[in-house]
Amino acid sequence: MTEMLLLTGQTLTFKGDPFHAPWEDCVQINSAGAVLLNGTKIAAVGDADALKSAHPQARIISYGNDLICPGFIDAHVHYPQTAMIASWGKRLIDWLNTYTFPEEARFADLAYAEDIATRYLDLTTANGTTTVASFATIHPHSAEALFRAAAARGQAVVTGKTCMDRNAPDNLRDTVQSAYDDSKALIARWQGKGRAQYAITPRFSPTSTPEQLSALGALWAEHPECLMQTHLSEQTDEIEWVHSLFPNARDYLDTYEAHGLLGERGLYGHSIHLTAREIDRLAEVQGRVIHCPTSNAFIGSGALNLPALAAKGIPLGLATDTGGGSSFSMLRTMAAAYEAAQHHGHALHAAQLMWLATAGSANALHLAHEIGSLTAGHYADLVVLDLRSTAPIEQRANRSGSVWEDVFATIMLGDDRAVRATWIAGAQAHG
Ligand code: GUN
Ligand code: ZN
Repeated sequence: MTEMLLLTGQTLTFKGDPFHAPWEDCVQINSAGAVLLNGTKIAAVGDADALKSAHPQARIISYGNDLICPGFIDAHVHYPQTAMIASWGKRLIDWLNTYTFPEEARFADLAYAEDIATRYLDLTTANGTTTVASFATIHPHSAEALFRAAAARGQAVVTGKTCMDRNAPDNLRDTVQSAYDDSKALIARWQGKGRAQYAITPRFSPTSTPEQLSALGALWAEHPECLMQTHLSEQTDEIEWVHSLFPNARDYLDTYEAHGLLGERGLYGHSIHLTAREIDRLAEVQGRVIHCPTSNAFIGSGALNLPALAAKGIPLGLATDTGGGSSFSMLRTMAAAYEAAQHHGHALHAAQLMWLATAGSANALHLAHEIGSLTAGHYADLVVLDLRSTAPIEQRANRSGSVWEDVFATIMLGDDRAVRATWIAGAQAHG
């Protein structure tokens, strides 16, 4: 029989979406809470005293005043860009050509892919991230390397072989047929195996011919259980390039829709400079917009008006977009999301930021039935946050009038030092 574990501390739970109802009604912190783990799953969430008396046999791990949260879910990353994060001085297209493509070419070597997959999961686990949706490189084995590394840790992961058949170096191009065949073979091997989810992955419209987009759209129609991940409307120069490559498209989103690549299981990274039509269409089909605020600042792409998209009813996730993003930390990413919304006159509440990094991203990935909140029956994927992790945070917390002020200070000033522990599928993975 597996031993029951009772983690006690402050617990953060969700009752609703704080972008569509007052945050106080949607997100709660229990100052004397507990989470009961049974094997890989959460068995119960409630008051520590009540759970202690109901489960006297459970082994207790006391986290004091630390905040037990659902593990962070990073809904758009490029694990192959781990080693070239923080590369200086370029904007999107020359950043891709100068730094990204040469690094991704190294993934032709399986051993290198395996090394980086392990390094990446070590780094993200140390930052409290328990699930990622990652682009791989064009090499099918780069997706397998991440699937295997995640499976070895019992970790949920979304990934897919990146597809590019134009506007990329020779050694990083596949073809219409090989993109379809290789993606299909990976779906057969990995989709739904354990905690693996396959995402059909056209990098973005400029690096796929219309024929390749159509082939991937057809593949998605054959495998509607899969996610589809790509980039949309990130930089103004990129958008102009898309218009010149697809002169008949109404807009950038239409380059996907015209090829069967628009749907509610579609994940559209960035989506900063959308037209009114694109916003309405995404809302209509419930396509997911994945907000990548540190990347948008780092590459100079712009500040997404996230509250405006939320008001339209578009489902939203949050992501680091490493290595275009400048941090592996979802705390730093929440801080950047706060700052981006400030550019548009909106102050996101800490409860909304925490929701985006957990339940919101889980919903974006269609995994909200098993991760993203402290709910009985969900996987026990947790992050435990020390709300006084550094001297600057501690002195701020000493002035704080509420736990939400503490949480906000940790979001704005915190990093991996705030991560007291990370739990993945009921096992302590860090801390
Ligand atoms: N657009 C196409 N590829 C990429 C990428 O790797 N990173 C970012 N930020 N944008 C992209
Ligand atoms: Zn990206």
